[in-house]
Amino acid sequence: MRLLVTGGAGFIGTNFIHHILEKYPDYKIINLDKLTYAGNLENLKTIEGHENYEFVKGDICDEALVNELVKRVDAIVHFAAESHVDRSIMGAAEFIRTNVMGTHVLLDAAVKNNKKRFHHVSTDEVFGSLSPDDKPFDENTVYAPRNPYSASKAASDHLVRSYFNTYKLPITITNCSNNYGPWQFPEKIIPLFLTNLHEGKKVPVYGDGMQIRDWIHTGDHNRGVDLVLHKGREGETYCLGGGNEIPNIELTRKLLAIMGKGEENIEYVIDRPGHDRRYCISIKKINSELGWHPEYDFEKGLRHTVDWYLANKEWWQRVKSGDYQKYYQEQYIDRK
Ligand code: NAD
Ligand code: DAU
Repeated sequence: MRLLVTGGAGFIGTNFIHHILEKYPDYKIINLDKLTYAGNLENLKTIEGHENYEFVKGDICDEALVNELVKRVDAIVHFAAESHVDRSIMGAAEFIRTNVMGTHVLLDAAVKNNKKRFHHVSTDEVFGSLSPDDKPFDENTVYAPRNPYSASKAASDHLVRSYFNTYKLPITITNCSNNYGPWQFPEKIIPLFLTNLHEGKKVPVYGDGMQIRDWIHTGDHNRGVDLVLHKGREGETYCLGGGNEIPNIELTRKLLAIMGKGEENIEYVIDRPGHDRRYCISIKKINSELGWHPEYDFEKGLRHTVDWYLANKEWWQRVKSGDYQKYYQEQYIDRK
């Protein structure tokens, strides 16, 4: 199979590309990534020059480029997005452009070129926020996004489904909960807190810290995407979650304990505007149809992730200092 992976230099896309090249030695991957602040080619150093891997720096909103690349593959796995809620609150324009308009460009190219599969990677945030006693989100939950990021992802999900209904494009969608694992950009809570603690800085807990997230290791998420890409029914959505609901303050205490730090390192800061209180998602459908379930135990997965960040200090230090952005220049432009 030849795959066009969008956003493959970001956190989950990077993990996905490594997973696919290891599991399917004869698959070919084209990674289309704009290299925004979230894209980091250092994540993919070990596969540079791999005969089945090609990197293309470009924008999913670029119609001509997308068309040319889509022609060369069998299927599209679409990760590229602006993904950070706090940034969407500071300014939503890039979120609408990439997440909505970029998805539209990819969908049109897929229809035009009769693609066998368009897999769209989405989020549980499209369902809104749960109260403590609400039942988990599932595939039938009504969409109720509450911040510009989740609204833009919701719009993209609707567009993707409309292309199945209108043009019979063979789409699938996965809506997943909060991911953690290697190569996550240190603006998201787990890597931000880990790296801050390592640097002797405090960790900023928003509001009362009682917001709940359902954590999943990115390896489990990507096994789910792989399974749906190959075996999911056309036109269907599958929800993925880790079954690890935990309030932010408890997660923070776990990280403090692993890092051998005390509560004095917590700084309660002003809450995120419109902060969603609780996410929790049911995996009944993908479990009963495709047999998927998360394999990582949360405690072990978290320790494993901490170990990864400690062993890869140079990686995140280069991200935090901004030096990682010189890598493309040095490796790709200067070499040409
Ligand atoms: P990320 O921010 O780490 O990476 C996004 C990647 O997309 C980056 O490499 C960036 O350069 C690229 N990109 C951004 N705009 C682009 C454009 N216009 N053209 C081409 N490339 C562009 O994001 P992530 O956390 O890896 O998330 C990947 C996908 O998974 C997103 O669609 C996100 O909504 C979804 N998702 C994320 C989570 C999570 O917990 N992180 C959970 C569920 C779903
Ligand atoms: O649920 C899936 C979503 O999870 C994905 O779609 C998003 O792309 C991804 O960014 C993530 O969104 P969250 O907003 O839940 O993740 P974040 O790591 O930004 O925040 C997790 C929780 O921690 C949230 O309740 C806000 C809180 N938080 C976050 C940061 C960065 C803090 O208390 N302090 C912080 O400094």
